[in-house]
Amino acid sequence: MIIAIDGFSSCGKSTFAKAIAERFGYAYIDTGAMYRAVTLFALQNNIITEDAIDIPSLLSRLDDIAVSFRRNTATGQNEILLNGENVENAIRTIEVSGKVSEISAIKEVRMKLVSLQQLMGKNKSIVMDGRDIGTVVFPKADMKIFMTARDEVRVQRRYDELVSKGMAASREEIKENITHRDYIDQHREENPLRQAKDAIVLDNSDMTPEQQMEWFIARSHFSCIPAEAGKQSGNE
Ligand code: DC
Repeated sequence: MIIAIDGFSSCGKSTFAKAIAERFGYAYIDTGAMYRAVTLFALQNNIITEDAIDIPSLLSRLDDIAVSFRRNTATGQNEILLNGENVENAIRTIEVSGKVSEISAIKEVRMKLVSLQQLMGKNKSIVMDGRDIGTVVFPKADMKIFMTARDEVRVQRRYDELVSKGMAASREEIKENITHRDYIDQHREENPLRQAKDAIVLDNSDMTPEQQMEWFIARSHFSCIPAEAGKQSGNE
């Protein structure tokens, strides 16, 4: 069983996907985190400088980048590992956000991560969120959701997320970043952000997490799955 959630930056895809995974006992895979981890690697290794990305250098190091997930038993949440190191917080900085769309537009980076994502979904029930899950990664997903929310709501959500993690950023900076990423994500050549033809649209601007869950249950064909279904975890 595969549930694909795509949509614009900061419209609450991962919160929604996590809630579904938790409730139905599915594994959750945050594909944005994977692109962020590759971006972090490029920043740490001076592959990204002030205003340029050394693409040949990144491509020559692609095999040195191992991205995986591990379940933190204390928090019950998945954490992303970059070459074995937990980078869950390091990938959320505004510096990474500022470069991730450029890195994720590179064909070879996408090929590497898409095949990893397809492998992660093998023989498992998963909820995966990203930009091309319903169109490219799992075009035959059992359910496809395309999420959106008003700009000001998305800015506030990202602002709250950063503040809760003790990271400073202004709303102006966040708005600029979200607009920039949406543009590149929609206009890149490789697997651009598109609504799959068979996706259901969810605008959650004025919805609480509970209302979003009700929305999901009303539209899903999975109401036969008990809420307490055995929890699947560890999606590496
Ligand atoms: O979901 P997020 O904001 O953490 O994603 C970070 C970036 O990664 C986003 O701007 C575009 C890119 N991305 C992508 O190109 N394809 C995906 N499946 C997921 C994310």
